Parts: sequence; C-alpha cells; structure tokens
Amino acid sequence: MREKILNILNNATGYVSGEEMSRDLGISRAAVWKHIKKLKSEGYKIESVTNKGYRLAEAPKEISPSTVDSLLNTGFIARSIQYTDSTASTNEDAKRLASSVDGTLFIADRQTAGKGRLGRGWESPRGSGIWMSLLLKPEISPNEISGITLIAGIAVCRAIGGSAKIKWPNDIVMGGRKVSGILTEMSAEVERVSYVVCGIGINVNTAAFPPELSEKATSLYVETGRSFDRNKLIAAVMNEFEPLYKGFIKNGFEPFRAEYRDLCASIKREVRIISRGSEMIGTAIDIDKNGGLVVMTAAGTVTVTSGEVSVRGIYGYI
Ligand code: BTN
Repeated sequence: MREKILNILNNATGYVSGEEMSRDLGISRAAVWKHIKKLKSEGYKIESVTNKGYRLAEAPKEISPSTVDSLLNTGFIARSIQYTDSTASTNEDAKRLASSVDGTLFIADRQTAGKGRLGRGWESPRGSGIWMSLLLKPEISPNEISGITLIAGIAVCRAIGGSAKIKWPNDIVMGGRKVSGILTEMSAEVERVSYVVCGIGINVNTAAFPPELSEKATSLYVETGRSFDRNKLIAAVMNEFEPLYKGFIKNGFEPFRAEYRDLCASIKREVRIISRGSEMIGTAIDIDKNGGLVVMTAAGTVTVTSGEVSVRGIYGYI
C-alpha cells in the first residue's frame, strides 16, 4: 500500500484528495491518512491542505555509498562500505561479517530489528535516519573498549555541531531529547579483543515519532526545522571519528577528557543510577580519566563506569 500511495503522489501534478486516493486504493480515508502520517515519519515532506488533499513536496534523499566515499578524508575508516536497503540490524551484519577488513562500515536505509542498549530496541524507519555500524579491530584490552563508545559520541557531536550534547555515557541529545544512540559490542578472549562493532543510530529527517517515543526522542529535522543530507552526515561522522580513534588507541581517553566533559550534559545534574536492580541518587560532578561519571552521593563520591548502567535525570530525561 505504501508503494501505491507513493506512486500516486509521485505521478500527481498537484494535490490529490484523500477521497480520490481512498476510492482508487479501496481503503478508508482514515487509512490513507495513517499511511501519509507514516510516510511523513520516514522523512517524506507531504503537504496536506484542507479541501485540496495531499502533495509530495520532497522525498528523502537516498543514501549512496559512492557519495559517502567521495566525501571521506579517512585512511581506513569506512573505506569499505557494505550498504543494504533493509536489514535486521547493522550491528548483527557487522558481527556476521567480522572477517571483513578493519574499518568496514555497514549501513542500512532501514532496520527491522534495530538494537539499543540494555536489551532495548531501536526504531529505524526507512529513509529518515542513519543506521550504521563500524567494524573495528583494535589492539587494546577488553576493559578499554567502553572508551570507543565515548569517543564515538564526541565524533557524532562534532559532526552534528550546534547544540548537540552527550548524556553520559553515549546518548546524543538536543533540546533535552535523544537524537542519537551508540551501541558497542565486542568479541573478545580474556586479554585480547578480536573485534568491536560500534553501532551508531542518528534520527536525521524524522518528522514525527510514535507517541511512546515522542517525549524522549527527537531528530535533527525536529530540532532545526531543516532536512539534512545523510551522505554528508555519515562522512562527517567518519571523518571526525578516525583521528579520535587513532588518538584513543595510542594514548587512551585522557587527551579527550576535557572535550567530553564540555560536551557532557549530565555534569552538574541530579542523576539516578540504576544498576542491576539497585538505585543511587546524586549529583554528577565530573568525568574521570577513563571516562567514568563521577557522582557525589550522600554516601560519598562514586565513579560509575559504563556498562550495564542506566543514568536518568531526576528532573527529566537528561
Ligand atoms: C541506544 O542508545 O540504546 C543505542 C542505539 C544504537 C542504535 C544503532 S542503529 C545502528 C546499529 N544497529 C543496531 O541494531 N543498533 C545500532
């Protein structure tokens, strides 16, 4: 039905009324409206005018691996790109194809089973976002891997620019809501990492979110009122990531600590830390040299390391 509606809108010279569409497609006007709403959430700009109907003003620009490639200034990051129109999860693709070359970037236009942190899902509709996973083969120990997530957060923030901040450890937030999330997974033996998959999701041109997400989620489009070229943004994240990653592998997190702290929206906020059923409340005061969140609680100062920890603001999402 989605394709049929797009076909009608694409072939129309002006507005098409909801009534006409419902008649031609054999569905109710309410059903037409529901499909239109879904298309809008995928990044299609569809004007609706009372007594006239619907008009497709702008279709989302496609992701093109060759365009991304032409915009890269990296040595090895994303020099190999595996693009697919639709997949369950790009993190799963990267893990399945972990024998691929170091720095391979897996991108999909849509994920049907996108994964978030702490076993949650990640909404990944077609056409409107960036769903991508980097395959990395760093020579560092397993306990240093969380730093990759932190520097990926810096890379995303730098690429987005503007008011983008980081809610510790790795949610990118704008206007108090989440615009991007990072999920890092690894395969390792006791002392040796065999590979790392750093999955990055960015809500780019999403016009609207389902009700259950709208309080916490946002997109670049919602925050700025304009559409972004996903190819440019993918390349910008990769171009920012490579020098950060090389620096991190060589010198650890410390050189990036000050920048991370400046970008971190959690600092000076009251936070609730939820870990394996227990809860702790305090004020986030600093980022330590390994990227841990230093929190002042009634029982003293504690440093929270990322992992199976959820941090919630007391007065809102951040
Ligand atoms: C989170 O904040 O919970 C992390 C979200 C990570 C989403 C990205 S989208 C690309 C990659 N593939 C996945 O299945 N998840 C990550």
